[in-house]
Amino acid sequence: MHDLLHTAASTPSSWVTRFAPLIASGGAILDYACGSGRHARWLAQRGFRVEAVDRDGIALQLLQGLPKVTTREADLEGEAWPYAGRQFDAVVVTNYLCRPYFGHLLTVLRPGGVLIYETFMLGNERFGKPSNPEFLLRPNELLERLRGDWTIVAFEQGEVQSPRPAAVQRICAVRGHAATLVLP
Ligand SMILES: C[S@@+](CC[C@H](N)C(=O)[O-])C[C@H]1O[C@@H](n2cnc3c(N)ncnc32)[C@H](O)[C@@H]1O
Repeated sequence: MHDLLHTAASTPSSWVTRFAPLIASGGAILDYACGSGRHARWLAQRGFRVEAVDRDGIALQLLQGLPKVTTREADLEGEAWPYAGRQFDAVVVTNYLCRPYFGHLLTVLRPGGVLIYETFMLGNERFGKPSNPEFLLRPNELLERLRGDWTIVAFEQGEVQSPRPAAVQRICAVRGHAATLVLP
């Protein structure tokens, strides 16, 4: 059972692995609220430079010394938001939501940058945690937040069975009006 849990925690999301090929080769990626860094690790192994940020310094230790990974211990919900003025080629967010800073987060993507976002939505309370509506996306919420200067590549919402039963919402979008994209 321990091995199964470990595998689930270290296996990258198929939403992230599917859309990573849209990111500029060797580009700089922010793994936001990275936890133990399953995506930072996977992306760095594919030649991307990754900044992995989380408030959990113990989880970040698992990433110390990995080639192409920089770790940063920071509070992403405090008064001094740590990424003002920074730009990345992509941002990956999974299983994390902080609505007050959602708009800030979008500003770190350069034009042409790729947002890959997947987290729980309303309805997940039937399956377990998170169940607090503060941490659950509303129907269509990611889509509605990216109206305007974004090219939506893919959007999904609903119940999934794997890696465990959950209600999720996920989006992949490119900042700006991208010319025809080659879909991965
Ligand atoms: C459910 S985990 C998801 C980890 C990773 N994204 C993944 O999917 O494997 C949520 C992460 O958000 C981080 N987190 C929660 N609140 C935070 C905050 N205020 N500042 C920075 N990180 C935070 C937690 O430490 C935790 O690692």
